[in-house]
Amino acid sequence: MCGIVGYIGNEDAKEILLNGLEKLEYRGYDSAGIAVRTEDGMHVFKEKGRIATLRDAVDMDVETTVGIGHTRWATHGVPSQLNAHPHQSSTERFTLVHNGVIENYQQMKREYLQDVQLQSDTDTEVIVQFIEQLSKDGLTTEAAVSKALSMMKGSYAIALLDKEEPETIFVGKNKSPLLIGVGDGVNVIASDAMAMLNVTDQFVEIMDEELVLVKRDSIEIKTLSGEVQSRKPYTAELDASDIEKGTYDHFMLKEIDEQPIVIRNIIQKYQHEDGSTRLDADIRAAMQQADRIYVIAAGTSYHAGLVGKQLLEQVANKPTEVHIASEFLYNMPLLSQNPLFVFISQSGETADSRGVLVDVKKKGHRTLTITNVPGSTLSREADFTLHTFAGPEIAVASTKAYTAQMAVLTLLAVDTAYAAGRTLDFDPIQELGIAANAMEALCNQKDEFEKIARDYLSVTRNAFFIGRASDYYVALEGALKLKEISYIQAEGFAGGELKHGTIALIEDGTPVIALATNEHVNLSIRGNVQEVVSRGAAAVIISMEGLDQEGDAVVLPRVHESIAPLVSVIPTQLIAYYAALHRGCDVDKPRNLAKSVTVE
Ligand code: F6R
Repeated sequence: MCGIVGYIGNEDAKEILLNGLEKLEYRGYDSAGIAVRTEDGMHVFKEKGRIATLRDAVDMDVETTVGIGHTRWATHGVPSQLNAHPHQSSTERFTLVHNGVIENYQQMKREYLQDVQLQSDTDTEVIVQFIEQLSKDGLTTEAAVSKALSMMKGSYAIALLDKEEPETIFVGKNKSPLLIGVGDGVNVIASDAMAMLNVTDQFVEIMDEELVLVKRDSIEIKTLSGEVQSRKPYTAELDASDIEKGTYDHFMLKEIDEQPIVIRNIIQKYQHEDGSTRLDADIRAAMQQADRIYVIAAGTSYHAGLVGKQLLEQVANKPTEVHIASEFLYNMPLLSQNPLFVFISQSGETADSRGVLVDVKKKGHRTLTITNVPGSTLSREADFTLHTFAGPEIAVASTKAYTAQMAVLTLLAVDTAYAAGRTLDFDPIQELGIAANAMEALCNQKDEFEKIARDYLSVTRNAFFIGRASDYYVALEGALKLKEISYIQAEGFAGGELKHGTIALIEDGTPVIALATNEHVNLSIRGNVQEVVSRGAAAVIISMEGLDQEGDAVVLPRVHESIAPLVSVIPTQLIAYYAALHRGCDVDKPRNLAKSVTVE
């Protein structure tokens, strides 16, 4: 949610900031802005809409070497030019960008800013106005920033420019991600290393409640109470081509196509040449000691968790529960004696999951994060991390991260099973390799999926996905993918459940996509298809070799049932992609969404 960048160096800051914001657009894209300093003062440009709109509005020829920028996903205040960042204090001495949510901003406003005329509806403006008040009271800017941040409750990553200290960017962080990139005579700020890879690949992590003074030739990290911290940079191992579309029109399609490679890569990373699994001994021990696994996740990652539960129970014999992160704390189940909490998160930043992590850690429980971003908050704060190695996922709709999560869960289940001395009647890792081949075959059949999307989803208002057993989990994921990028109202149902109410919505031509990859429920799900067809539905059946029947729209190559979701999800991803395309939607950046959801 929201991305911030900052630059102080010797090149033209405008271009570097705009370029950085384009890389961060996945974090929010309802408005954007930059502030750059020149000899004659601060220049702020901000616009409602995408970075491209902002780029057109930045009509300044003068070169600048210091600046900050922001791309927004609105939390407080509608998307508008007024609410876009940067925000300035009343005298325009201070200019600030912020990612996060200040929970006590109303109270701060009431108590300290009664006499200040605020210009926007945002929580962010309260920070910059309060810093100005403190500096009017005689505090240095550094002291004012420290004091303001220690009084703010909530999450923030901020970058502040002060007209009177033009050679410093003041940076602070709590709970929202923030990195400082370091170079020779240049230092940068970014919510994500990707944004500044063209400037440097050396990054320093900033911890919660730290303040950083970023100058051209130095960075100084302090705690909010003033203790100086020293920290070495790490090399961001990102390939610039990972974050480019290449020959693809959309990141989503590129990422769908990458899935077979991702799965093969995961096998390589987690399996020794002799076939044994390569997991950290501490993770293995934690899995052995746990008497129950509590999987916590949101959205697509939650759907991967549902498949993971089946694997952990059937392959590793570990009792497992899966919970939606945002609900868990209100409705905490009675925990077992030795629980292990497993957080699944592509971004590693999801605030709902982090809320649970903080809570269960306080209670002394062990935690493992499965994430695509190893340096992320959930990864840093959990006891253990398993990396999904999917490479940067840029499209807002998650595809390769989802299948990668399921592959890593398969390896976790296998490792746990072997460590407990279980013998398995199939080799799940070999089956993953077979699944990767099947995924590749499906990615080469795009025309078929485009036709299904055109025939069934071009004009419809709604659509249903049904499945039983693990197909039900894929039905949930297929529906989520379709609705988030095409805006068709799509719902996933357990095959048997539709007739308990929702079947009332079936009309002539209502698309119902049925998944039929589980042998023991094949006839039942086909029965459910008959029920909807006889009420007018237009059914699309996705089945699997050996279980297929005449008239099935898609027949998947045969794979082992326990990992079939990795394969059966591919048609649903591609159907969603083409449906969105045909309906003229912005596939990579659907409305109202952002890639990493850092607010609760
Ligand atoms: C949907 C999607 C979201 C995320 C959810 C959790 O395509 O991407 O539902 O899965 O916001 O995000 P992470 O996995 O980053 O915790």
